[in-house]
Amino acid sequence: MTHRRAHGRGMVWMVPALLLAAGPALADPASGPPPDPEHGKALFRACALCHTLTPDGGNRAGPTLWGLFGRPAGSVPGYRYSDALKNSGIVWDETTVSRLFEAGPDTVTPGSKMPLQTIPSPSDRADLLAYLREVTTPP
Ligand code: HEC
Repeated sequence: MTHRRAHGRGMVWMVPALLLAAGPALADPASGPPPDPEHGKALFRACALCHTLTPDGGNRAGPTLWGLFGRPAGSVPGYRYSDALKNSGIVWDETTVSRLFEAGPDTVTPGSKMPLQTIPSPSDRADLLAYLREVTTPP
């Protein structure tokens, strides 16, 4: 059995350390340092040109992002989406929005009206998502 082997003792002692390390990683799917919504707010300035964040803020070039989390792509009433977005089958959450800006709208939703833009840094994306989650979620 493994614990009788020469390195067994070392292995056994490593287990609690690994469990401790896994704790915060489980709570924070992005792992690494916790996301910083204040930095996300600064990053959102690049989006604010085209997106409001409030229920009554209406639509600019893009739809309001109010209630974004859990909403199917292309579902804000009164906004004229591209067929690409409407038929994408995507439901927006941390993973799908992050992927949208990792790969770029032209890759994730080819034919989308949203101009090509990417956010290459995973921690930038996590910060932006933390901010969006905070300000677009209905009470
Ligand atoms: C130049 C204008 C513009 C900018 C800047 C922009 N967007 Fe968009 N966005 C759009 C348009 C237009 C659509 C609708 C696309 C379609 O119908 O194909 C859209 C759609 C979206 C959607 C899908 C919304 C839905 O209801 O399905 C999300 C999420 C989104 N944008 C997030 C962002 C974020 C986050 C940023 C900043 C990193 C950003 N956008 C920057 C124009 C923009």
